[in-house]
Amino acid sequence: MQKVPVANEYLYAKTSSTNIVIFLLLIVLGLASLAKNVHAQKFTELAQTPQMGWNSWNKFGCNINEQLIRETADAMVATGLKDAGYIYVNIDDCWHGERDSLGYIHVNAKRFPSGMKALAEYVHSKGLKIGIYSDAGHTTCAGFPGSSGYEFKDAFNYANWGIDYLKYDWCDTRGINPQIAYNTMRDAIRKAGRPMLFSMCEWGESKPWLWAKDTGHSWRTTGDIYACFDCNFNGALSAQSVLRILDQQVELRQYAGPGHWNDMDMLEVGNGMSDDEDRAHFSLWAMLASPLIMGNDLRSMSAETRNILANKNIIAINQDALGIQAFKLRSLGALEMWVKPLSNNDWAILFLNRGLNALQYTYQWQSIEDEWSKRSVDFTKKNYLWRDLWTNGQGNTKTPLAVEIPAHGVVVLRLSEMR
Ligand code: GLA
Repeated sequence: MQKVPVANEYLYAKTSSTNIVIFLLLIVLGLASLAKNVHAQKFTELAQTPQMGWNSWNKFGCNINEQLIRETADAMVATGLKDAGYIYVNIDDCWHGERDSLGYIHVNAKRFPSGMKALAEYVHSKGLKIGIYSDAGHTTCAGFPGSSGYEFKDAFNYANWGIDYLKYDWCDTRGINPQIAYNTMRDAIRKAGRPMLFSMCEWGESKPWLWAKDTGHSWRTTGDIYACFDCNFNGALSAQSVLRILDQQVELRQYAGPGHWNDMDMLEVGNGMSDDEDRAHFSLWAMLASPLIMGNDLRSMSAETRNILANKNIIAINQDALGIQAFKLRSLGALEMWVKPLSNNDWAILFLNRGLNALQYTYQWQSIEDEWSKRSVDFTKKNYLWRDLWTNGQGNTKTPLAVEIPAHGVVVLRLSEMR
């Protein structure tokens, strides 16, 4: 009789210590998963539409300094490009000085005598955001200190300076795993605590569209752009023309969407192609929901270049809230038709002329089916109003469309149902 309570007590004691162990285990697991969520996550609210801004590399290469960045921020406001939606002023390679004995990176004091924090404050005072560049390897592509092994220190530094955007390159990586390298920097940014758009630049080598949705806000899909519409430099990674980049996007649309974009590289508008080529380049980047990062000298651009970059109707195609990348509907010799479903059941249609002679084309309106986004439209059943987004011409889908597409040029239409 006396043993029963003892046994009960023992049982009770055992149960309660098991409970305590389970309880503690749950706390540890909870904290671990909290820590995981805090660090192993990009800032998901950024880049809900493709990011828009400017970057120093295409025009200036290593020839950069704080005066250029200030003047570019000023020009972005003065030319109306800020009002058109461009927000980020991004400093590419070559801003670096040296690492100190504690491993912290410093700016090149000759090029940036006021320091990065003061520059960030200046850019912010214009209502703009500031971006910086680093590299997942030991050195950047121009040979400056990379972030390998210093990710957390660098992210902390950038946050402290007030940086809003990090472009993260892939030179001198010596066989490291891209997924681990990019996730490490993503975690470092998260830990540093300041929202920074994370723009991955590993040139599509490891097919980041397959794995980087939760790592970066955009990933480069190709090697570096070169200001030529249709050139072939034996496939050189460092010199991809507009059409070479376009042709590498065809299979990628299902991987893009709000918060995670296929990056076709920075714009070359205003850097030497013809105005028709610039319009085509800009329209294609907009249709394919690529980030729109200008790469020209904003302080001295022509009125035509400015008007191309500030075309609000084309920008609206790029910034459409659905975030569906265009697809190639048809290819007929030099002519291609690209189609992008838009909000409110609108559609954008782009006619591209890849050739060197102007093309006349008559399009019989018909139904279009987008299997991937499960959207369709039948222009034979409902009447749509179309607007030409470069000439502002108008018409409707009751009569066939006759277009003339300039050599290396485009015609871009936005279609809205007539109610
Ligand atoms: C790589 C990138 C470019 C640019 C340079 C800078 O080539 O792809 O966009 O950042 O490095 O060195």
